[in-house]
Amino acid sequence: MILSALYIFPLIFTYRFLILITLCRRNIAYTPDLVMKIFLFFVLAIGLGLATANYNYYRLPTALRPQKYYLRILTLLENPEDLRFAGTVQIVIEVLQNTQNITLHSKNLTIDESQIRLRQISGEGKKDNCVSSTSLNPTHDFYILNTCDELVAGNVYKLSLPFAAELSRPLKGYYRSSYKNPVDNVTRWLSTTQFEPASARKAFPCFDEPGYKASFVVTLGYHKNYNALSNMPVKLTKPHETLPNYVWCEFQESVPMSTYLVAYSVNDFSNKPSTLPNGALFRTWARPNAIDQCDYAAEFGPKVLQYYEKFFGIKFPLPKIDQIAVPDFSAGAMENWGLVVYRESTLLYSASHASLNDKQYLAEVIAHELAHQWFGNLVTMKWWTDLWLNEGFATYVASLGVYDIHPEWNSKDRESLSSLLTSFRLDALVSSHPISRPIQMVSEIEENFDAISYQKGSSVLRMMHFFMGQDAFRSGLKSYLERYAYKNAEQDNLWESLTQAAHKNGALPKNYDIKTIMDSWTLQTGYPVLNVTRDYTTNTAKLGQERYLRNTQISRAFRERCWWLPLSYTTQEELEFRNTAPKAWMECSSTGESSSKTISDLPNSDKWVIFNVQLASPYKVNYDAQNWKLLIETLNSDDYQTIHVINRAQLIDDVLYFAWTGDQDYETALQVTNYLQRERELLPWKSAFNNLKQLNRILRQTPNFGFFKRYMQNLLTPIYKYLDGMNDTFSSMQDQDEILLKTMMANWACQYQVADCVPRAQAYFRRWRSEPNPDENNPVPLNIRTTVYCAGILYGTDEDWEFLWSRYKHSNVGSEKQAILSTMGCSKKVWILQRYLEKAFDPKGLIRKQDSMLSFQAVASGQVGFLLAKKYLIDNVELIHKYFYPQTKIMSRLLPAISEQVITTTDLNEFKAFVENSRQFLRSVHQAVQQSLEIMLTNVQWMERNNHQFSRAIQRHL
Ligand code: BES
Ligand code: ZN
Repeated sequence: MILSALYIFPLIFTYRFLILITLCRRNIAYTPDLVMKIFLFFVLAIGLGLATANYNYYRLPTALRPQKYYLRILTLLENPEDLRFAGTVQIVIEVLQNTQNITLHSKNLTIDESQIRLRQISGEGKKDNCVSSTSLNPTHDFYILNTCDELVAGNVYKLSLPFAAELSRPLKGYYRSSYKNPVDNVTRWLSTTQFEPASARKAFPCFDEPGYKASFVVTLGYHKNYNALSNMPVKLTKPHETLPNYVWCEFQESVPMSTYLVAYSVNDFSNKPSTLPNGALFRTWARPNAIDQCDYAAEFGPKVLQYYEKFFGIKFPLPKIDQIAVPDFSAGAMENWGLVVYRESTLLYSASHASLNDKQYLAEVIAHELAHQWFGNLVTMKWWTDLWLNEGFATYVASLGVYDIHPEWNSKDRESLSSLLTSFRLDALVSSHPISRPIQMVSEIEENFDAISYQKGSSVLRMMHFFMGQDAFRSGLKSYLERYAYKNAEQDNLWESLTQAAHKNGALPKNYDIKTIMDSWTLQTGYPVLNVTRDYTTNTAKLGQERYLRNTQISRAFRERCWWLPLSYTTQEELEFRNTAPKAWMECSSTGESSSKTISDLPNSDKWVIFNVQLASPYKVNYDAQNWKLLIETLNSDDYQTIHVINRAQLIDDVLYFAWTGDQDYETALQVTNYLQRERELLPWKSAFNNLKQLNRILRQTPNFGFFKRYMQNLLTPIYKYLDGMNDTFSSMQDQDEILLKTMMANWACQYQVADCVPRAQAYFRRWRSEPNPDENNPVPLNIRTTVYCAGILYGTDEDWEFLWSRYKHSNVGSEKQAILSTMGCSKKVWILQRYLEKAFDPKGLIRKQDSMLSFQAVASGQVGFLLAKKYLIDNVELIHKYFYPQTKIMSRLLPAISEQVITTTDLNEFKAFVENSRQFLRSVHQAVQQSLEIMLTNVQWMERNNHQFSRAIQRHL
């Protein structure tokens, strides 16, 4: 009886049981005592076996440390019906604590367990060991190998595991991608990886946590017609032992790195080498037919890499770096060490197809990924909680890198403002979250790649840069990077290095430390509004702070929070906007409470003050009525430029938010925005449109839209004319910001039918349509193409739509394809939009999965399209879920365009019911759903509180 039980359960039993089996087989006399002992042993062993199988903590046990991986993978790309890979991984494992099992990650891999080998390679005792049984924990993707003999602390073992799988169809792990070769119209297949954050485990069994850094020796087997790339340069290539025409290519051993940064690809791409003296070997890869679009990336990449070497004072440690444009890629780009992967639209640049916006975005992305080579790759976060150290840094530092190479693009200010505007919006929601937050499940890791990690992260780093100054900030970063190179760190480690540098440089009072200040920003959700109330008799101002929230029903008590605020300010007398160093600090008590503060020596009642110079810190500022009045006077006078351009953007953003939440009236807000009729610079307009966009989406559904439309026309007409309307004046513009301003203005002018915008756009579109060869010749000026395409579709015929769709099919340029996808939703014809939505989620259609979102967003942001897209989502959530599965997190991007336009309680309730009924399909986007519901709620609140007040105020300004 016992014996048969033993044979049924062998897989989950540890080696103790194997001993038991042996015992039983040796005809021993079964005394009752012995039977009892065996029984007890049996119970104990089941307990042990299950305990191992049931290890259910989300982190790997800490008894083992992988030192090195030998990864050998054969990739088969010849038969499109059977694209797969098979390999072996040998992991050199150091034992830190005695243990009886090896627990690592593996997902969707077939492992031939008869071929698993385990050997001790250093330390005392017998060398042979083995795996007695294995088990799985699918919740955490654990693969648990129970060992025959205990693994002893101090010893080193080598575990060898064979594995195989189909090349993944979702764009994660080791996956397939393809493109059509235009020469013979044949589909070419390639393979590539995307491991961050937790998909290396789908490509090979490994310790898939960022803290387990190890070196990697990758060997790839493939047909000799292909190239192979990995993190390191090729060491040697030799023929495959048995497969004819196959080769093995071994790459050099890597530096110690996290699994999520491992990368490899087998493809038939071409490359363009860069020539940069003394630098790492730098190559840019793309489909052969797109290789002529690699020039800009090949030039920009090495330049920005060199800038970082200077900025961080640390050389790029690898001998080479490849950047590759993969036709199917889910993110924008991925920073794998030495092999950076991009989607085509973020790496390839065609001077004859791309706008200045496209080009700047490309530079920004390349700069971002290369910044990661230090922040992320060299020094990696200990755990995903500190993801922002990777993403916030790369986002911030990229703007410095791009600025260094293209100072004329003004990227430092532009990117900073855009980060601030984005985080102000999201972080004013109760459903936002702290920059640094506990992460357990893989789905939570993925949710963390959001505007809080990227944009708020970048904004708080900029704040530090501004209050510490260049020298202390840089030297703190350098010592942090040096101290933790090839290791892992958490935010406290960074704070320590920065505090030391700041104190050494005298950049921070000795009784302050960076941790205390920054914890208030990274561990706490939200941001504050600084309320400035001046006393005009004593020339002082009383300052108070509270959390700023969009939802006005939240209690005051909930808002009572404290942030350490660097107080930089200037006055109408002083006009000193260059100095961003704080003149004082708003402190928090040790228990996190704020108290009010008084500032003295302010000017008389006829001169304004402005706090938060250059918007150095991510907080809003509200003033008393008199100070707003003074500011409005200056803005609406010829002196408006005495206020720094970023502070002009700040005043617009702040006042429009305050009006939204009822902290200011719309009369005041409109007096501020009125000055825009004078404004000729990009950033204030960007800030205005960022807010007006939201008002537009609400108001166009109300009877008062006519007033808003006239107001907008009045605002836009002077600048539209100043920028010479839709005429192609781009090549004569000296100021690059003016090109962007004109691009943006054209878009808004056509939306509001300003002057001749629409007829001119239609004329351009018609000219393109009448070209005999429209794929070769496009007469539409590059920088206004999206405006022209959108007007062409909105006011055009069914044939116009078909024309654009054909251009999409024929285009060889990623950014052009994206521009077309995002304008084909401009139609107001129900059947066309409906058909477009279906195309977007057709697994066999021509829109790649990576781009479906663009099409959906394009439809959803239109007036007619919004209603259709909302219904489509509600009716088809299961289909959409299936379409994206297992990358369903991407569904979060379906929501914003919808939620911004829901303005009635009825629609909000409909959406709530939908969320309730579709819980199973929305599980991975829980956070985004909560944020959407809150945005809808604040829209409903706006309608109730502001709609009438706003329409009265706006009529006074017509
Ligand atoms: N590390 C990310 C890529 C990534 C994103 C991996 C999400 C896993 C999940 C990369 O550095 C990145 O941030 N890419 C951005 C582009 C960047 C310029 C903002 C992206 O993919 O959007
Ligand atoms: Zn990044």
